[in-house]
Amino acid sequence: MTKNDKKQQSKRRSPAMWLVGLMKPYAHKILFSTLLIVLANLADLTKPRIYAIIIDDFLKNGGNPDGNFITSSLTNLGISYFAVIFVSAVCSLWQSRIITRICQKILHETRMKLFDRIHRMKLKDLDEMGSGRLLTRATNDVEALDEFYGDVLSGLFRDVILLAGIIYMMLSMNVRLALAGFAALPVIAAITLLCRGALKRNFTKMKAIIGKINGFIAESLSGICVIRSFSREKEKCEQLYKLDRDYRKTTMFQVLINGIMRPIMEVVNSAAIVLVLISGFRLAGIDTSFAEAGVLVAMTTYIKQFFQPINDLAEKYNTVQSSLVSADRIKTLLDRDGDLEYEDESAYAAPMRGDIEFRNVYFAYSGEDWVLKNVTFHVKPGERAAFVGATGAGKTTIISLLSRFYTVQRGEILIDGVNVNDWRLSSLRSQIGVVLQDVFLFVGTIGDNVRIHAPISDAEVEEALRVSRADTFVSRLPGGINHMVSERGATFSTGERQLISFARAIAHKPAILVLDEATANIDSGTEALIQESINTISQGKTAVFIAHRLSTIQNSDCIYYLEHGEIKEQGTHDALMRKNGLYAALVRAGDEQK
Ligand SMILES: Nc1ncnc2c1ncn2[C@@H]1O[C@H](COP(=O)(O)OP(=O)(O)OP(=O)(O)O)[C@@H](O)[C@H]1O
Ligand SMILES: [Mg+2]
Repeated sequence: MTKNDKKQQSKRRSPAMWLVGLMKPYAHKILFSTLLIVLANLADLTKPRIYAIIIDDFLKNGGNPDGNFITSSLTNLGISYFAVIFVSAVCSLWQSRIITRICQKILHETRMKLFDRIHRMKLKDLDEMGSGRLLTRATNDVEALDEFYGDVLSGLFRDVILLAGIIYMMLSMNVRLALAGFAALPVIAAITLLCRGALKRNFTKMKAIIGKINGFIAESLSGICVIRSFSREKEKCEQLYKLDRDYRKTTMFQVLINGIMRPIMEVVNSAAIVLVLISGFRLAGIDTSFAEAGVLVAMTTYIKQFFQPINDLAEKYNTVQSSLVSADRIKTLLDRDGDLEYEDESAYAAPMRGDIEFRNVYFAYSGEDWVLKNVTFHVKPGERAAFVGATGAGKTTIISLLSRFYTVQRGEILIDGVNVNDWRLSSLRSQIGVVLQDVFLFVGTIGDNVRIHAPISDAEVEEALRVSRADTFVSRLPGGINHMVSERGATFSTGERQLISFARAIAHKPAILVLDEATANIDSGTEALIQESINTISQGKTAVFIAHRLSTIQNSDCIYYLEHGEIKEQGTHDALMRKNGLYAALVRAGDEQK
């Protein structure tokens, strides 16, 4: 069977089979723990038998006339009873330790796989799924698997084996009484089946609402300043209240089903005991040889024990249903390998010269809604190109395509004459230094934020900060490059954040430097400094600038004017000014504003 066939087969598997499949590497340990369960159960099952012997042989018959024998046998039975309790306790503890460890390992592996999958997903799919749903997969859904393994591995095996043992013990003691006790089974099966569909639908609903709640809270936290500045806290709370109300309703339904099931089970349990007792008395009436009170006591104890795992199984059925819904969602995410980004070791990788060429590129984020139309340009190594145009014209999109964040539908993008689709992703991206429009800083030190886990020395970090002029404020911070950055860099100004991300791009020594609006939020003094450093660092590098401040791009080798995804004008600043077209109008509009 090929690797592909195996993948297809795994995709077709039901969520339950998939979960069972994850246990495969631990089969020998699970087998051992099952053995421990059997031992513990055997010990538990022996207890009622000991009662029966005590009642029937000693209490009822008055024991053996030999008093010494009674004492010694009773002592032995007592010792056996405690031994049984001890064996049961040790085996249960050992088994639960093994299972918990396996369970935690499976959860850890699943969470890591999910995180890896999320990192490989195409940006388009990430945008579509939304952070709330992905967050729920990696947190709540993985936790729900914990319940599955916890319940199934330690509970289900134990219950099933216990049930089998009880059935055997009951049948071996008295077949007629045992069958009277089992009469309740079809009723239990009917109740469970009846609730099944409703429970599953409710769980699916519940998980979807949890995803929405997670997404809503995460989004509200990111936008908390907007909410406060427009005083919309009350409205946001109301929105959450509605979501939470739906969640409450689904939970209440769950509690209702449980609440109905439990007393019904108890009634069925009592009915089974009554049935066994009535059968026992009738049997005693017909069959004079049957006068064993001990057997009746043991039988009723077994019936009680019998219903314990059945009750447990019915309750577990709930959690298992919930886990299966989560498993299905996780599996769907893990199975989507066709549209993932993979590092192809055999793909092209080489030091970049920095030759960029777009050939008749058409691109749409969805369908045929073209954001770029027939875009063609060529930036030679060491040249500086600049893109200008109104908001939404498609400037950032061009950059995203260069790093292959999205794939073009028509045309070609070549870097050093090689289609970006044929480049090894890590080689392509690591050689393009991008300063994005929306700067993102991680929790960690300033040094960590410049490095982002790359092997870059402190001296190189400091050099990058100096070149980007970020050292002007970093040197004033306590700890310098070891100063801690809070979540999203909230304690820095937008300009400062841009300077750090500028240093980040420089420190990685890229062949192509891409700056998207990099200087938009910096005061004119800093802008002049940055302009100076850009001139130094972009020496010998291809640079692509996107700027609304046209003064920063005037010395570019070529300026492209983009309108609705089409290049309308191109040339040097002087040539475009002479042409007196769209670019010249933009420059004049900018001058008037000043
Ligand atoms: N992730 C996305 N999914 C769908 N559509 C998008 C996405 N990003 C951008 N767009 C759309 O593509 C078009 C071009 O966007 P782009 O971000 O490239 O514009 P821009 O020229 O960089 O604008 P600005 O000057 O405001 O940064 C816009 O109409 C925008 O709505
Ligand atoms: Mg943009």
